[in-house]
Amino acid sequence: MSRDMYRQRILDHYRNPQNYGELEDADVYYMDDNPSCGDEIEMYAVVEDEEVVDVKFDGKGCAISMASASLLTDKVVGMSLDEVREMETEDVQEMLGIDLSPARVKCAVLGLKVLEGGIVEYEAEGA
Ligand code: FES
Repeated sequence: MSRDMYRQRILDHYRNPQNYGELEDADVYYMDDNPSCGDEIEMYAVVEDEEVVDVKFDGKGCAISMASASLLTDKVVGMSLDEVREMETEDVQEMLGIDLSPARVKCAVLGLKVLEGGIVEYEAEGA
């Protein structure tokens, strides 16, 4: 995809986020913010056999944070909890497909940070 196509895809996900909302029967729930702007995201996930089978997110933020959370929720269904926890900033940047300034990187990883926080908590509770 060209850079313009990536940009367009980010706008599309921002305007029509995938998996936006709440999951009532979620095993994983977590909320956190981007300390630099105060925007918050909540993540909900249903887990079966250590695998993410459903996921939704809620919250408000800039186009990068919303698009990135939307793309993330599309990507993680079917992944194991370990695989999600091992995702890093580079994976999010690759998903978005554009270069980001350090401030924008914080926006981009917000959804992942929240989901990983929820998984860590879920695993600690089950231990
Ligand atoms: Fe708040 Fe991007 S400006 S998450």
